Amino acid sequence: MTLFSGFVVFLVLTVALLGGVLVTGFRARRKLHIPLVVLYLASMGITIYFAERMGAGIDVYTAGKIAHVHLTIAKYTTFGYALPVLSGVVTCFRPGFLKVHRAIALLWVVLTVLALVTGIWMGLAAERPE
Ligand code: HEM
Repeated sequence: MTLFSGFVVFLVLTVALLGGVLVTGFRARRKLHIPLVVLYLASMGITIYFAERMGAGIDVYTAGKIAHVHLTIAKYTTFGYALPVLSGVVTCFRPGFLKVHRAIALLWVVLTVLALVTGIWMGLAAERPE
């Protein structure tokens, strides 16, 4: 498996798992929702691993401002995943917290899409060694 095909395979799997996380969350299927969250986060981690290995051979800063934008969004989004997870755990014990969990979870979905779009933009804009 090449780095690029690994990235594409795990990106598609991650998007499918995110779909499953959202559907099971909105349908209140907790017993499926929580394992899917675990698989989603693991699959996202593998996708990031492939993306970083692909980026290792190029100087991403040659892409200009978009490199700083992407790296900042990606860093805060990745480490910030503790928030939807924590709010989800609290929701298990305090159902009144559901609205807060929903707002945080959906915000993180938007941040993740932004990280993906800016990452692809950066990868395409960066200069490649001859
Ligand atoms: C990537 C992380 C996550 C995302 C994107 C996510 C997304 C969602 C969404 C969209 C809902 C539906 C909200 C609504 O009905 O208005 C939901 C519900 C819920 N989530 Fe999550 N969630 C995540 C992580 C977690 C985790 C880690 C847990 C627990 C360990 C959790 C526990 C719950 C519970 C208990 C509900 C309520 C289900 C019910 O109504 O019975 N979530 N989640």
